[in-house]
Parts: sequence; C-alpha cells; structure tokens
Amino acid sequence: MRIIDCIDKKVEKLPLTTEEIRFVVEGYTKGQIPDEQMAALLMAIRLNEMDDRETADLTYAMMHSGDVVDLSDIDGVKVDKHSTGGVGDTTTLVVAPLVAACGGVVAKMSGRGLSFTGGTIDKLESFPGLNVEQSPEHFRRIVNDIGVAVIGQSGNLVPADKLIYALRDVTGTVRSIPLIASSIMSKKLAAGSDAIVLDVKTGNGAFMRTPEEAVDLARLMVALGKHLDRSVTAVVTDMNQPLGMAIGNALEVRDAIELLSNRISPEDPLYRLCLTLGAEMLMLSGLAQNEEEAVARLQEAIVNGAGLAKFKAMVKAMGGDERYCDPDHIDELCKVQKKVPVYAGRVGIVQAMDTEELGKAAQVLGAGRERKEDPIDPAVGIVMNVRVGDSVSKDTPLCTLYINDDTNEQDSINRVISAVKIGTSSPEEKPLIYTIIRGE
Ligand code: URA
Repeated sequence: MRIIDCIDKKVEKLPLTTEEIRFVVEGYTKGQIPDEQMAALLMAIRLNEMDDRETADLTYAMMHSGDVVDLSDIDGVKVDKHSTGGVGDTTTLVVAPLVAACGGVVAKMSGRGLSFTGGTIDKLESFPGLNVEQSPEHFRRIVNDIGVAVIGQSGNLVPADKLIYALRDVTGTVRSIPLIASSIMSKKLAAGSDAIVLDVKTGNGAFMRTPEEAVDLARLMVALGKHLDRSVTAVVTDMNQPLGMAIGNALEVRDAIELLSNRISPEDPLYRLCLTLGAEMLMLSGLAQNEEEAVARLQEAIVNGAGLAKFKAMVKAMGGDERYCDPDHIDELCKVQKKVPVYAGRVGIVQAMDTEELGKAAQVLGAGRERKEDPIDPAVGIVMNVRVGDSVSKDTPLCTLYINDDTNEQDSINRVISAVKIGTSSPEEKPLIYTIIRGE
C-alpha cells in the first residue's frame, strides 16, 4: 500500500478503504509517513470530505493508536460529557458532581484551556494542593468511592490525534467536520465511558460559527457513537456570549460553587444548560425515564446540597483543600491586587458580544495561555456585568477585570470595549439550546 495512492484517491473524491485508513493512521503515528504527504491527504479530506463509514474507520484507527482506558471494573454505566470549547463554560464542574449525587458514575478526563477557551483541568488546579494527575488505580478508587473524578488526560491516549492535530493546526485543515468529529470522538471513546453527552457549541466563541455546521458535526458524532457501540447524545448550544458571568479559573470555580449552593437563579443560562446536560447524562445512564424526572432530581441535589458534597469529596480525594468549596470561602481564591471596572461609556442596548475577544481579554490578564507551556494565574480574569439585550447607561460597568499583573490592563480594557457592541435597537434573541440529537 502506498500513501501517494491514498492521496490520489481522495483527490479524485473516491472513498478510502478501512485498510487504507488504518495504514495512514498507523504509518503517520510511527513516523513512516512524512508530514508533507499527510498534509496533502488532510487537505484533500478537507476539500472532498469523507463519508460516515470512512469517518468511523478513521475514529477507530485513531482511538486504537495508543492506550484505551478500561473502566469495566467500575460498577454502573460510566457517563462522560464533553464541550467542544467555549468561554465562561464551567458546566463540567457543576454537572459531574450533580450527576454523581443522583447515582451516576462520572469517570472523566478533561483538558487544559488553549488560546481564548478555558479548560476544566486549569480550573480545578485553582484549589491549593489539588493534583489533576492521578494514577489509574487512584482514579478508579475515587470513582468507586464517590462516583466522580475529573482528571487530566493520561500520557498515551490517542497519540495519532496529538500528531495529526498539530499538523492540521499549521496546514489550514482544522475546520473539517469529519476531521473534527474523529478527533473528538477518538479521545472520548479511548477514555472508556459507556455513554457520552456532547455539548456542541456554535457562535462567535466556538469552532462552529453557524448552527447548521454545529448540527452537522453533532449528527456525525452521534452516528460515530452508534457505529462504535456507545450511547451518545449531542446538545447544540449557543456561544455568542460567555455562558456564565465569570471568565477565568478560580472565578469560574466560584460560579460553579455558587450554583451548587443554590445561589444562582434557575433562569441563569449556566444553570439551565447544566440541568439540560445533566438530564441527558442521567437518561443515558438509565437513572431517569424522561427529562422532567431527571431535571427534578438534579434540582433536588442542588437544593439539598448533595451535589456540592460530591464536589467537595472529589476535591479532597484529589488532594485539594476542600475548605474553599464553601461558598463563603471561595472568594479567598479570587483575591487579586486590583479590580478594575470597564464602563459602557454610552447609553444603549447591548446588541452583541465578540465572545472570542472577551476570552482573549481574560487571557491577556493571565487567565489563559497562548502556548501549552505558558503559566496561568488562577485568580485573574473577568466578571461580566451585562448580557446581550441589557440596557446600559454611560456609567454602567460592562464588567470588572480581576488583575494581578497590570502589564496588559489597557489591552484587556480595549478588547472588552470593542467586544461589547452597544446600539439602539433590540437585538434578535438567540436560543440557548438549538437542538438535542439523541442516538436511538
Ligand atoms: N477539539 C478537538 O479535540 N479536535 C478538533 O479537531 C477540534 C476541537
């Protein structure tokens, strides 16, 4: 078999066979196929697509390029959730312990934030002492004991994706639906859960800019799950403004703890989305018959504190100082040298937000990183004060910046001002949840 023949076939819009796809993934992972040929093939895929069978074969080959986690010795249906990435999206920290409080089993591997998006692992590291790198044995023990653990991704999970993603990043081949779907699903499938709920974001703070693209991606990932024998539900959700009001690590942990302490309104978008995702996880786990029943159970776990207790137990089991899980103490992790309000400066209505730019405004303060090795400051970031549709006057704060190092203070202020569009008309209201696609 020759890679050049695979490239030619894709250029001619012909499907690759299962064997050819295996050959490509294995050859590239082992360094037998050079970057230039792999890049040519990826570009042919980006331009000429792949059908569902080819995408399933690619997902399977990538999933088996390294370790595959075996969670079979943990009792119950193991359920995972994944967000395609957004700003102010702290749902995992709420949903994982809430689902565990309702009897679910959440054995989850999460990632770090990159560029303008946040990452659950960075948020968890806001807790002094917490170690996100747990041995497989300790990870299993925590999940068996308390029903939930969220740890960093283990070393050799889907090495093919690490290599292919890095090449896609520099060859203009990221924005391909079959390549994104196989990249995400290979990692989720290798992480070992039986059921997966995907939060597919769409909007100006997401990879998929239009709901139509997001629905296509969601449908494909649900189909891949079915093909590879896992139950998958995809929820397509809006990312045209930050989901929660906080953007930053400890600040988002504070939002999560306030929600779990029943101090956030059920009307709040973060609250609503957490309940939707949690309900889908409970239904996939067979712990609720329908959405109404699932939502009622999740709400009960918020009101009676069972979700917060699970969160606290998880933080403690991972070596973190669980005293900060108390809603009256979490503020201590958000202490900064100064807090700077950014004012609207004019009268009007918030028309829209450039969500990616708001993520970058927090990133330049030290809440995120440009390169993997950059340090982050857990306490800094932004707390928004307005949402799209809100009326503002000149002296209404749009947000407050939490700052320790003021080198980029003005840059951050400028980004917020350019990101929050103020006008006179009432903006079109966008749904928080566009659609839910369930595998049968
Ligand atoms: N997230 C991934 O893991 N892979 C992609 O290709 C895009 C988003």
